[in-house]
Amino acid sequence: VTAVPHESATGALEVLRTRSVVRHYTGEPVEESQIQQLVTAMLAAPSASNKQAWAFVMVRRRALVRGVRAFSPGIIGDPALILVACVDNRRAADDPHVREVATRCVAMAVQNFLLAAHALGLGACPVSSFLSEPVQLLLDLPPQVDPVFVVPVGHPAGRRQSSQRRSAEEVVHHDTWTA
Ligand SMILES: Cc1cc2nc3c(=O)[nH]c(=O)nc-3n(C[C@H](O)[C@H](O)[C@H](O)COP(=O)(O)O)c2cc1C
Repeated sequence: VTAVPHESATGALEVLRTRSVVRHYTGEPVEESQIQQLVTAMLAAPSASNKQAWAFVMVRRRALVRGVRAFSPGIIGDPALILVACVDNRRAADDPHVREVATRCVAMAVQNFLLAAHALGLGACPVSSFLSEPVQLLLDLPPQVDPVFVVPVGHPAGRRQSSQRRSAEEVVHHDTWTA
């Protein structure tokens, strides 16, 4: 494992600081090379016991994108692709702890994906408001593969909106809650 060169830290931190959800997209497709970069970043995420009890479907075929969207009230715009990020319970079957925390592992992979998309100039939004069963059926997912997030992705249309954050003073405690 090589350390990230110090010079790239500023750029990386800027990507973390400036990401926001993007809910509206132009019709432009996402390039294959960009999809590869998104996947590489996503799969680099940490996971409990390194079990990687996850599975992902990159939905690009128009009819399927429309189908997933139809069962996802949380998707607002018309994305070029939708990532369906799932827990793969088959990989967690023999370990109750991994099973318990598997959705957190998927969330970490999705966050990597969102940050990579932002770094590439793409826009995305993590969406939990969707109907799991119809999406499972539509995409032929095995019964033990549970979708956790659907993530619409595309080239951003319009201006990016940044949302409010609670202050560090309010939410970060040092050493103890009351110190
Ligand atoms: C677990 C989770 C579920 C979310 N579900 C939806 C959703 O269904 N639809 C949607 O438009 N945004 C969804 N979001 C995005 C949030 O609304 C968004 O992250 C939040 O408003 C802060 O905006 P920002 O990410 O641009 O800073 C979800 C985010 C998280 C973490």
